[in-house]
Amino acid sequence: MRVMVTGATGLVGSALVAHLRGAGHSVTKLVRHPHADDERKWDPAEGQINLKDLEGFEGIVNLAGESIASGRWTMSKKKRILESRISSTRILVETFAKMASPPAVLINASAIGYYGDRGEEPLTEESSSGDGFLADVCRQWEAAAEPASKLGMRVVALRTGIVLAKEGGALAKMIIPFKLGLGGVVASGSQYMSWIAIDDLVRIIAFLLTESSLKGAFNAVGPAPATNRDFTKTLGEVLHRPTFMPMPALAIKFLLGEMGQEMLLNSQKVLPERLQKAGYAFAYPDLNQALAHIIS
Ligand SMILES: NC(=O)c1ccc[n+]([C@@H]2O[C@H](COP(=O)([O-])OP(=O)(O)OC[C@H]3O[C@@H](n4cnc5c(N)ncnc54)[C@H](OP(=O)(O)O)[C@@H]3O)[C@@H](O)[C@H]2O)c1
Repeated sequence: MRVMVTGATGLVGSALVAHLRGAGHSVTKLVRHPHADDERKWDPAEGQINLKDLEGFEGIVNLAGESIASGRWTMSKKKRILESRISSTRILVETFAKMASPPAVLINASAIGYYGDRGEEPLTEESSSGDGFLADVCRQWEAAAEPASKLGMRVVALRTGIVLAKEGGALAKMIIPFKLGLGGVVASGSQYMSWIAIDDLVRIIAFLLTESSLKGAFNAVGPAPATNRDFTKTLGEVLHRPTFMPMPALAIKFLLGEMGQEMLLNSQKVLPERLQKAGYAFAYPDLNQALAHIIS
């Protein structure tokens, strides 16, 4: 399949490009700062994109967006988080609308932040959206992609959980303090963390690209969400380190503000119901096995 990937230089994008190429697909990257022959330039903030660069692809995976987990959410950071996602998605869909034959499928990133803070409630794709900044961003992000379905494209909203990878994201930030014996439960530890091994995430994207009957929202999470207490204990076991250093909720709120609340204190017990019904088989369904594989 000929596939274009935006956000291709990021954590998920770079693993995805390698996976798709390994599986025999032809991949071109749409980037803001091109350096190589397999890259094309766009500038979503300025509304700049070359229609010809998007021609001839069967699938597009849109992962672009300002980093969510780096730094406090100031007003200007929140504006960039939202606008980078909406403007990127809109400009792609507007460009497809001008094409005689747009790609057959758009896989558009979204996140489990869609569901807000939901305690122990099991969340499937049928569950309602929740409250908070990330829920609002995800709703607007998914809404910006949806008009592509009116062009006859198959549109998938990929509600991605916490991506576990050694190279970046939440786990990479945790490994050093945990190795130093500074790991511990966050707040009460009862909040659910819905995680996905990066190996599964890229396989899921490839699955959704090629399974031509699948469209709509998909929860890209493993089948066994863990409470923060269980996650902490498992990571400590995998690293052979103690996890006695608790991080109180007040400290999180003081140090990280709204970002800490939504990323570390909110609880989301999300299940990959539609992926499992569609027959996707997880390579890393178990947290201990996933962490051992990723950290090894
Ligand atoms: N990692 C996770 O745990 C996680 C969880 C849920 C959802 N997601 C979503 O999945 C997508 C990919 O995640 P990731 O972890 O790979 O993100 P990432 O490492 O931060 O990469 C995102 C990519 O988006 C592009 N980008 C950055 N700032 C941008 C801006 N202001 N405007 C337009 N493009 C910008 C960059 O590509 P170029 O410089 O090449 O343009 C960057 O490499 C993101 O949209 C993220 O919100 C990630």
